[in-house]
Parts: sequence; C-alpha cells; structure tokens
Amino acid sequence: MNHYRIAVLVSGRGSNLQALIEANQRGELSAQLVVVISNTPTAQALERAHHSGIPTQVIERQTGQSKKDYETRLIQSLESHRVDLIVLAGFMLLLSPYFVEHFKGRIINIHPSLLPAFPGLHAQRQAIAYGARFSGCTVHFVDEGCDTGPIILQTVIPVFDEDTEQSLSARILREEHLLLPKAIDLLSKNKVQRRGRRVVITDPAR
Ligand code: GRF
Repeated sequence: MNHYRIAVLVSGRGSNLQALIEANQRGELSAQLVVVISNTPTAQALERAHHSGIPTQVIERQTGQSKKDYETRLIQSLESHRVDLIVLAGFMLLLSPYFVEHFKGRIINIHPSLLPAFPGLHAQRQAIAYGARFSGCTVHFVDEGCDTGPIILQTVIPVFDEDTEQSLSARILREEHLLLPKAIDLLSKNKVQRRGRRVVITDPAR
C-alpha cells in the first residue's frame, strides 16, 4: 500500500482523473487516490471515481455562502483524509490565498497551455487566436494567482495552421494525461525541489 495520499479536485469530465486511475493501475504512480471532491454533483469525474472504487464527495458552494466558509469545508474534508497532495484536475473554482496558504506547496494544477502564456479560461482558443506556433501543457504548483505558480513540468505541442480549438485541445489533452501522472510520481518520490520560483527535478532518469 502506498502512503502518499492524493486528493483530486474536479468539476467536469475527469479525463485527467481517469489517466491517474489508469497510471495507478499500471503501477506507474506511487501514490494512493484517497478521495475525489467535486464542486458540482453532475461532474462525470464522479462516475469515473465510483467506477474505480475511489471515495467521492460533492462539496458545492451554497448560495450566499462566503468563499471562506466554502473553503473551510473543503479544508476540513481534505484534512480528514490526511492528504499529502491536492491535485486540481479541471477544478473550475479559483482558490483564495486562505486555502492556498493552508496547504502551502501541496497543491498542483494542470493547465492546457505553455505557461506563462495563455493563463485562465479557454487557453487553447487563446493560443490559436494569438497565432502561436507552439502551445502545450503545464503542471505547476498553485499559488495565489491564476495559473501563476512555479512550473514543475511542461510539454510543448505544435499548433498547426489547420488547427481548431477542438483539434488542438485533443492533442494537448493526450499529453496532459502523460504529464500529470509523471509530475505526481516525481512529487511522491520527493524528487521535486522548490527554489523560489524555480523547480528542480532531481531525477536523472527523467
Ligand atoms: C484540462 O484541459 C485541464 O488542463 C484543465 O481542465 C481540463 C480538464 O479536463 N485545467 P478533464 O476534466 O480532466 O477531462
């Protein structure tokens, strides 16, 4: 049984969660998926978790509930699961400094662009509209900003003249599914060192 405990926060489709589940089944992830938390009851990711026997929880932000109260509920749940790492995989809420500070250095996110280019929503659409020749995907630590935290791993992906938002998204997604398990595996093996904004990977095999 692996002792590195991961929570995955989701809001939708959950293909990255699925990639983690499958990497784990293949023994490529030295970690345990202890809970999947969604901020919406309709997320397909929840079905994927159920299907694999991973505990799930829906924590919705109630109307009128302050962000701090909402995040306090999230924190309580994550603490009760004794998580080492929180993985944002298509989690569509921006977490406040209160939450980020609580789990300082223990939250990562996957983003479908080569950050710092094209943060925020519709990153693939932004890359095409800008005319970028290359985009990609990024796994980074989460800080107080939107997609601004220290970068752990990236994959570069070409943007072709005939690309649509859909075709580029699909090409990037395939790489996301490889990059996220790889980053988590490195973290779980303590092969990721932060030096301020820079992240050093201490794995010669990488
Ligand atoms: C991915 O493109 C991820 O990079 C972004 O949201 C999307 C989530 O997709 N943050 P899925 O729910 O994992 O399929």
